[in-house]
Amino acid sequence: MAEISRTHQQLDEAASAAFQPGTCPELSVVVPTFNERANLKELIRRVDAALAGIHWEMIVVDDDSPDHTADLAKDIGQTDARIRCLRRVNRRGLAGACIEGMLASSAPFVAVMDGDLQHDETILPNMLIKAREGMDLVIGSRHVEGGSSGGGFSARRDHMSQMATKFAGRVLHAEVTDLMSGFFLLKRAVVEKAAPALTPSGFKILVDIIAVSPPLAMAEVGYVFRERVAGQSKFDLKIGFEFLGLLAHRASNGYIPVRFVFFALTGASGVLIYLATLKAALLAGAGFSLGNGAAIVIAMTSNFFVNNAFTYADAKLRNLGPLLRGLLFFYVVCAFGSLVNFGIGGWFYAHHQTWWIAGLAGLIMGSVWNYTLSAIFVWRHD
Ligand code: GDD
Ligand code: MN
Repeated sequence: MAEISRTHQQLDEAASAAFQPGTCPELSVVVPTFNERANLKELIRRVDAALAGIHWEMIVVDDDSPDHTADLAKDIGQTDARIRCLRRVNRRGLAGACIEGMLASSAPFVAVMDGDLQHDETILPNMLIKAREGMDLVIGSRHVEGGSSGGGFSARRDHMSQMATKFAGRVLHAEVTDLMSGFFLLKRAVVEKAAPALTPSGFKILVDIIAVSPPLAMAEVGYVFRERVAGQSKFDLKIGFEFLGLLAHRASNGYIPVRFVFFALTGASGVLIYLATLKAALLAGAGFSLGNGAAIVIAMTSNFFVNNAFTYADAKLRNLGPLLRGLLFFYVVCAFGSLVNFGIGGWFYAHHQTWWIAGLAGLIMGSVWNYTLSAIFVWRHD
């Protein structure tokens, strides 16, 4: 209790000193949303109560939610100028939404917080004080004193989150108990500097900020992760893969793009499809050449559609014309890719004699070829 009243007194003093009509807020609370209409009003009410005495604003970053969360945010903004909304169209992605929201701020401090009421807004003042006292980054943690995963995660997801924290901690050499947290507050200067190097896909913006920044002064504040009441979590398999991609990207010092990890996983699924089709064709009595040819075409076609849906979800080809054209280019790129595979593999075999090293080298170079050229000719994106 003493701690809390000290906190509020300090904040009040600082706020009255800092508040000048017409000046920008001290704290921007960035809230990424996708279908959070049912939670937004309550969120604003709670943040308002928690941040009494602080000059704050909220930046709702909505990816054009079908439930029109953005409309609601803008309606509220008409009578409450503290509530701003950034509506992004034809784009999806939690990390990207957080980055753009933070970059829309002019405040010295920026917080990121989920819009579904799972994060405990009452620790915001304490986080702000730590940042004012000099911390670059203050993390809301479920795993320090005063924190817990509460009922917010299933046991399985909780386990995954802790494993990911350990794994990422090793890659980053960061001693933070909740690296998977989506709840944090930092000096805006930190994110302004990090922004150009951040990856906009996936959920793990915090890991990414730590990875690309010079060593930061960090602190954690415990909170109990609440259960989601309205709406649904957007976490899925793809986001899990994105995280693996992000770690590969960071562990390779930025050499391996996140997208390449998706592309390679898709390629691996294509190998399985190839083998299954070949086996099926042979069982059905086809000769090897016919079966092999069919298996190659089916595997390439499947790779194309899987890449279109996942790897290039942000540059997805949709209509018949662009799809057919893309598919055709993809076939051509892959045909040359197999020549690259053939050539490099042969060269390695001649020089090293080990069949699997030669095969692997061919495969890797072939994939890099396919990846690079299809990024240019099939899915043009920026
Ligand atoms: N703009 C935008 N675009 N917002 C998104 C998107 C998106 O593509 N996907 C999710 N969101 C918003 C949701 O509307 C919600 O406000 C917040 O991001 C978190 O999404 P959830 O789908 O509820 O995630 P979760 O509860 O499973 O996991 C969250 O909390 C964990 C604990 O802190 C995430 O923040 C995790 O990163 C975090 O580990
Ligand atoms: Mn949630």
